[in-house]
Amino acid sequence: MVDVILGLQWGDEGKGKIVDYFAPIYDVVARFQGGPNAGHTLYVDGKKVVLHQIPSGIFHQHTTNIIGNGVVLDPVTLKRECDIVASFGIDVRKNLFISERTNIIVPTHRALDKASELQKGESKIGSTLKGIGPAYMDKTGRNAVRAGDLIDKHFTTQYIKLRLKHQKLLDNFHFIEDISAWEEEFFEAIEFLKTLNIVNGEYFINNKISEGKKVLAEGAQGSMLDIDFGTFPFVTSSNTISAGVCKGLGVSQKQINEVLGVTKAYCTRVGGGPFPTELEDSTGEELRKIGSEFGATTGRPRRCGWIDLVALKYACMINGVTQVVMTKADVLDSFKELNVCTAYGINGKETAEVPFQMTRVNIDPVYKSFKGWNADTTKISDAANLPANMSTYITFINEFIGAPVKYVSNGPGREQIVRL
Ligand code: GDP
Ligand code: IMO
Ligand code: MG
Repeated sequence: MVDVILGLQWGDEGKGKIVDYFAPIYDVVARFQGGPNAGHTLYVDGKKVVLHQIPSGIFHQHTTNIIGNGVVLDPVTLKRECDIVASFGIDVRKNLFISERTNIIVPTHRALDKASELQKGESKIGSTLKGIGPAYMDKTGRNAVRAGDLIDKHFTTQYIKLRLKHQKLLDNFHFIEDISAWEEEFFEAIEFLKTLNIVNGEYFINNKISEGKKVLAEGAQGSMLDIDFGTFPFVTSSNTISAGVCKGLGVSQKQINEVLGVTKAYCTRVGGGPFPTELEDSTGEELRKIGSEFGATTGRPRRCGWIDLVALKYACMINGVTQVVMTKADVLDSFKELNVCTAYGINGKETAEVPFQMTRVNIDPVYKSFKGWNADTTKISDAANLPANMSTYITFINEFIGAPVKYVSNGPGREQIVRL
């Protein structure tokens, strides 16, 4: 049986914290897509840790963590992260496993990401520049090197072929960068990677399921960044939605059980692209300040705005969300008035559906206002003690999106979560 935790917005919903919170009741935590573009923040023994590649169950000694075939893996980031995790006394050779089919990010993927963004100029995606797009292009283009290839005697030849192909593309972009330092680090990291557990991921995970073990699939990014259903072309290059779990781990759809969707009590986005409820005023500034809205991977300020229920309802629909986790509710503690977007005004017409094209149309959000709760909620652990105005806000959201908010997160700490 596989449960899923994934983001319902544009990423950074607090998935890492929520996975870390639930991990003790699971035997396996698995990443199924994305790569080091992800930045999942956890607090371990009061210390902040940001995970980019390793699943967020790693700090629980009895949890097996697996990087699935749907992930694109940067060996350099992985090695760095393994060192951090080891400093907490965690033995990655014991509880981290990598699928042989996981595609490897090579240094020229990062260079290509940069070159592509530079060429796009004003219309750039705002990529994290971790090589994600080019790595997935090599997967669908059938050129990639995969974790299982590392021990093959032909690996170096395979790598050189790929590098030559990339060099031609970089020449077309007129992009010049000396990648020799990256390459040195890369080969060092490859040697390290070879010492980890590289397994046949689909058998590994299905055997666990057959043994009756509980698996938690950890999403990266968010549903509105999904390659098919997000705000294309301002998206990432993988399927971030629940459907991505089956192809990113090799499990059947029959195994998918609960889908827990994570949303902030408001909304953020980092990078370019449409964001109908964005607040480019002092309220947006306030959300950024109180919510410490700066990217966990790139440090960029996150764009902030009100919760968008049109997009949220859409995300619940395409994911088959069974439970919603609302994070960062405490960030709204001091706001007098809160808005929720219930429809989009497009060319004078109102719609409650996410349109095909969000980039070339002007979207005017239609808002419903709520009174804030003006109370410190960060120490509340019992649902009965949540402010009445917060309950009103949540009840409206439940009814609108057609999925129940079952947990409210009221601070970054592991223990700061209220079960409704
Ligand atoms: P992820 O990518 O979805 O895992 O989210 P990030 O880690 O990129 O960003 C979420 C940020 O919010 C992190 O700094 C978390 O520590 C923090 N966070 C998570 N949940 C809460 C919450 O309920 N309240 C507050 N104030 N911060 C939270
Ligand atoms: P987590 O898992 C927020 C955004 C980038 C950019 C677009 C494409 O921490 O929620 P890419 O590097 O994939 O080519 O970037 O997607 N993006 C994220 N935004 N959280 C993330 O991950 C993101 N991963 C990518 O900012 O707009
Ligand atoms: Mg993040």
